[in-house]
Amino acid sequence: MNDPGASARDAERAAAAGLAAETVVAPAAPAPAAIEARGLRKTYTEEDGSELTVLDGVEVRVAPGEAVAIIGASGAGKSTLLHLLGGLDRPTAGAVLLDGHDLATLPEKELAALRNRRIGFVFQFHHLLREFSALENVMIPQLIAGTDPAAAAERARELLDAVGLGRRLTHRPSELSGGEQQRVAVARALANRPVVLLADEPSGNLDSHTSEQLHDLFFRLRAEHGVAMVLATHNRELADRADRILLVKDCQLRSFYPA
Ligand SMILES: Nc1ncnc2c1ncn2[C@@H]1O[C@H](COP(=O)(O)OP(=O)(O)OP(=O)(O)O)[C@@H](O)[C@H]1O
Ligand SMILES: [Mg+2]
Repeated sequence: MNDPGASARDAERAAAAGLAAETVVAPAAPAPAAIEARGLRKTYTEEDGSELTVLDGVEVRVAPGEAVAIIGASGAGKSTLLHLLGGLDRPTAGAVLLDGHDLATLPEKELAALRNRRIGFVFQFHHLLREFSALENVMIPQLIAGTDPAAAAERARELLDAVGLGRRLTHRPSELSGGEQQRVAVARALANRPVVLLADEPSGNLDSHTSEQLHDLFFRLRAEHGVAMVLATHNRELADRADRILLVKDCQLRSFYPA
């Protein structure tokens, strides 16, 4: 029934609670996710034909600018999950939603383009191109995206400067330390201003001091670029710096912190 006094009473109640009337009336719209997975299952078929299910019914929603750590025993499925989130592999069932697309079903060419523009990857072993300099390694994803070479070089210089490698631009990976190589990989991952950065054991190959510097870099860049981060790690110090920690166990993803 339409009660003309109702909205006035709502406003009074809201005022009494110290709230604006709109706060009570307007339904809260869910904030759009940077990346989201629904009902993910991954089953590998072994050479002998037997099946190995690694993930089953995994749900995750990462907000823009949020940092989520993924922990779990070796072999639990952390890398598998990151590969699915990044469209590097396809789930057996379920959806991965990014920019209104489902990466699980997107044709390969469009998937590659979306990955290039919207997702940054950092792996345990940097996977830099050996024949190219630090500057070129950071330029390449931009050139693939169609950025003008001069603008790509400029952005690569800025990013390498930001990760403390402004004086190593012409060094090839073999002429850089492990920590420096990993910082080039972080600069490369951010080159196309992705919405989400996926890092798989990014400090797994570094000593504790260099790891800490790399972790500082991640969180500084997150603050500056607003990029969401999903970090698979065995490093407790890194996991503890995330906004949330999720645990992969028994094919499921559960909240670990906050519990
Ligand atoms: N391509 C594949 N084919 C078959 N099995 C696979 C494949 N890739 C991974 N697996 C299996 O899936 C399980 C999960 O592997 P995954 O690499 O995701 O684990 P993880 O949690 O990242 O482990 P780690 O901490 O050691 O990196 C493992 O048992 C692994 O042997
Ligand atoms: Mg792994």
